[in-house]
Amino acid sequence: MRVADQYYRTIWVDEGQLPDVQIIDQRYLPHEFHIETISSYKQMAIAIKEMHLRGAGLIGVAGAFGVYLAYRDAFQANQPMVFVDGAITEILNTRPTAVNLKWAIDKVCPRVASGLTLEEKAHIALDAAKQLADHDAESCRLIGLHGLPLIEEISERKKGGVVNILTHCNAGWLAFTDYGSALSPIYLAHRKGIKLHVWVDETRPRNQGAALTTWELLNEGVPHTLIADNTGGHLMQNQMVDMVITGADRIAANGDTANKIGTYLKALAAHDNGIPFYVAAPTSTIDFALAEGLGKIPIEERSGNEVRYVRGLYNGNIVDMLICPENTPAVNYGFDITPARLISGFITEKGVVNNIKLLMNLNR
Ligand code: MRU
Repeated sequence: MRVADQYYRTIWVDEGQLPDVQIIDQRYLPHEFHIETISSYKQMAIAIKEMHLRGAGLIGVAGAFGVYLAYRDAFQANQPMVFVDGAITEILNTRPTAVNLKWAIDKVCPRVASGLTLEEKAHIALDAAKQLADHDAESCRLIGLHGLPLIEEISERKKGGVVNILTHCNAGWLAFTDYGSALSPIYLAHRKGIKLHVWVDETRPRNQGAALTTWELLNEGVPHTLIADNTGGHLMQNQMVDMVITGADRIAANGDTANKIGTYLKALAAHDNGIPFYVAAPTSTIDFALAEGLGKIPIEERSGNEVRYVRGLYNGNIVDMLICPENTPAVNYGFDITPARLISGFITEKGVVNNIKLLMNLNR
């Protein structure tokens, strides 16, 4: 995507033999645009865990580049294979909910086996990670194409009136290598001249909606309005939302979907008001091995400080501000599960599916 007239992906490598990995450090957005150079698997594990980068698709691709860096570290420091195995386990354990991390590592590791030396293995892992990055971007481009008719249909029904779409968290290009999942059809519809407007949930506690989704939509010129997380129900009751599109971090085989905390409440409100609720995700986010989501998908619990403090710009500096009495007990579940029965359809790179059986067919 373009930022100030330059094309960026969220993660990339420059030319050269076994190069470092570059990422957009999302912790500073929307106030500052930082690129971070990642030079070891350890730094990549920290970047994933501490959310320098985030979003299911991007976490997966970053994990793949992490495997590459583990082999590169081992080659450069003459470490044994046990070092690489430990590094991969460490990367796998950084964030538990998005299944894309395991998916991507499972794709890279078998390919590396054909390398005879650590150097060869590092080269193979690098190629595999680059291919996964391209695959992720292409999947998201296709999600846009498949999701577009859903928006067009509403636009036609409204005789060209503005289509109001509510989204939660950030499932834009920042959450993937490029394009995004939930935002990909929105970008396409906007470029095609369909009149639309996006309600952006702020998405406490880390405010990915307020910080990242608004920044993306502003860059693309898509009309949008930031709302407090609790506003969606009121908007839906007052016919101010035509559809909801969110992303996903893990979809179980029965369609139960883990997404950013608060998604479930939006799905309930949408259901109660007869508003279509779509989940947009690449099939790499479907955990076909997991029969159902509720109680089964691991829900990440993060530091209570993310609830106690809010990050923002104050006098030109990015600061974390305490919003409650110091040491107030706080719990911070990162995700919740939206049961399949509340989901109107899944927008994937292979098409839109509305029922579980069709979802299973995508495994072929
Ligand atoms: O904690 P994050 O920012 O990595 O979580 C990302 C999300 O949960 C988003 O909701 C998104 O929809 C899924 S990632 C494409």
